[in-house]
Amino acid sequence: MPKNLFDLTGRKALVTGASGGIGKGYAHALASAGADVAILCRNADAGAKVAAELTETFGVDSFFQACDVSQESSVDEAIAAVVERFGRLDIGVNNAGIGILGGDADYSLDDWNKVIGVNLTGMWLCARAEGRVFIKQGTGGKIVNTASMSARISNCNVAYNASKAAVVQMTKMLAAEWGAYNINVNSISPSYLLSPMHASTPLEIRQKIRELTPLGYVQRPEDLYGPIIFLASDASNYVTGHDLLVDGGHTLNVWMAPLQRAVPPRVSPAEESAQLKKDLAMLGVSCDDDGINVDLHPEIADSYRAMLDS
Ligand SMILES: NC(=O)c1ccc[n+]([C@@H]2O[C@H](COP(=O)([O-])OP(=O)(O)OC[C@H]3O[C@@H](n4cnc5c(N)ncnc54)[C@H](O)[C@@H]3O)[C@@H](O)[C@H]2O)c1
Repeated sequence: MPKNLFDLTGRKALVTGASGGIGKGYAHALASAGADVAILCRNADAGAKVAAELTETFGVDSFFQACDVSQESSVDEAIAAVVERFGRLDIGVNNAGIGILGGDADYSLDDWNKVIGVNLTGMWLCARAEGRVFIKQGTGGKIVNTASMSARISNCNVAYNASKAAVVQMTKMLAAEWGAYNINVNSISPSYLLSPMHASTPLEIRQKIRELTPLGYVQRPEDLYGPIIFLASDASNYVTGHDLLVDGGHTLNVWMAPLQRAVPPRVSPAEESAQLKKDLAMLGVSCDDDGINVDLHPEIADSYRAMLDS
């Protein structure tokens, strides 16, 4: 039995959409296990800050690499630059994603193309580029895609939910195809998670999520540290084509019998928003004590407000 199946010392990783939220959390987790991590995103300022933080905190090699995942040439160039800098690649974490709210009857083709372009095409472009590197190296490798519980439930709109369901299926297809090269392809499906994407979500909605989640608190990037290290490390060598749902039990559908908490949840509301506040500060976005800034995503704030008022 190896000493530490979860050790990533010396492994070379990249994470897309890593300037904040889930991607930044993944980058921290991988670096804490010893991996050198390239930060791929569009925001150069925030990306460079995350990279500096990883080097300072964990002593690993980390750098920012500009990448727009929806553009084929940008993805191919960025991944080539990572391989050039690190000498090889072992772990590709494809996480960048967007959601554009709106009911389907009024949804524009432009918004549809944006969401599919980043969430599905972008994730496939990254996985394809990483797969090519692993095949050329002959080393095998680990690919982890961020899907969502929205792949399984109906909570947003067709563009978002279908894009995430497609990520789950893309993960399975690539796992089937690339098992022959010792490449593991898996996905992680978070539930509602306090990232900058949710900075405009009203507090009443956070409370609703707590009430509808057996584990009783809103997910934070930290809650994905274990899952990402597991799927990136030797601990998961026989796991492939799997979608790891990390939702605190949210999709178990507890609404018919609201939970009476027996003990306080492991995480308090103040602890829930701690990382979100840091992420917003890093992005240069102001917020209140709960990590809320309604102006960051006014459309999300308006849509939740309408839901609460109805
Ligand atoms: N927050 C949630 O509740 C939640 C739940 C389930 C799944 N997810 C998924 O998790 C992933 C990360 O989201 P998050 O919650 O951290 O939100 P976020 O908005 O904080 O992070 C998304 C990241 O993707 C980047 N990005 C967007 N378009 C890009 C592009 N074209 N090229 C490169 N980078 C781009 C953004 O700049 C940002 O860094 C997304 O795929 C999202 O769909 C989020």
